[in-house]
Amino acid sequence: MSRFDGRVVIITGAGSGIGKTLAEAFTAEGAAVTVLDTNAAAVEETVGGLPGATGRTVDVTDREAVRAAVTTTEARHGRVDVLINNAAVCQDTPFLELTEQQWDAEVDVSLKGAFLCSQAVLPGMIDRGGGSIVNIGSVNGAQFLGNEAYSAAKAGLLSLTRSIAVQYGSSGIRCNTVVPGTIHTPIWDARLAVEPDRLHKLAAWYPLGRVGRPEDIAHAVLFLASDQAGWITGVALPVDGGLLAGNLAMTREVVSE
Ligand SMILES: NC(=O)c1ccc[n+]([C@@H]2O[C@H](COP(=O)([O-])OP(=O)(O)OC[C@H]3O[C@@H](n4cnc5c(N)ncnc54)[C@H](O)[C@@H]3O)[C@@H](O)[C@H]2O)c1
Repeated sequence: MSRFDGRVVIITGAGSGIGKTLAEAFTAEGAAVTVLDTNAAAVEETVGGLPGATGRTVDVTDREAVRAAVTTTEARHGRVDVLINNAAVCQDTPFLELTEQQWDAEVDVSLKGAFLCSQAVLPGMIDRGGGSIVNIGSVNGAQFLGNEAYSAAKAGLLSLTRSIAVQYGSSGIRCNTVVPGTIHTPIWDARLAVEPDRLHKLAAWYPLGRVGRPEDIAHAVLFLASDQAGWITGVALPVDGGLLAGNLAMTREVVSE
């Protein structure tokens, strides 16, 4: 018996990186996974290797497309047990050059997308008296690390998490956020093309001495989505190699030894 036998799971942005690993991990634990992503080829690639998985090319900022995808999943499986709001975009534009369009695009995918997907699955979860939503945040939502629009959206996601957790807890619905530090995924491709050893350099800032792997995030997401986390809601769980716990290099400057 696996933790997600017979459960129905929707994962946004599951054509790549962490979302793709999540689709594999939920499937391995018995779930019927629905993959949503704007990249049609990536949807095909993720779904192709996963028994029982289905996919749909959906932009999470498109309310009608999101509703149609949720309706189709509910019609096929009878329900949605778990929603993972994982889709995000992030560009390296200096703050004073950030356009309104870039701001809107980054905030819309991470924050409005999570709102629209949550709003689409919640009525069914309320009717059935249970469900779990896990949002994928970022350490950028907790401290300044650049990427202002993306970071603001990730901070907003923490508020959305609490709103859903408190309002729908009495319906048996839990909502939590996993807060990843740096994870080696394709979102880093453009930066690594310019500076191939950037992740190696970043590892030095992490108390645990390495950047993360998609599997590190998947372990935490599956736990929070599972019945094992049945009394956990409204939390933000850093999965960040200790990054948010403190800064040893700075502390050594502060504390004379
Ligand atoms: N990789 C990291 O270092 C890191 C760190 C902290 C948080 N995160 C978070 O983890 C999550 C996954 O990131 P990743 O590194 O796997 O990124 P990724 O770029 O590898 O994957 C993101 C996926 O989202 C899809 N997507 C983009 N816009 C979409 C939209 N409008 N609708 C549907 N799908 C859309 C993309 O096509 C892509 O397949 C994101 O929420 C990201 O903010 C990543």
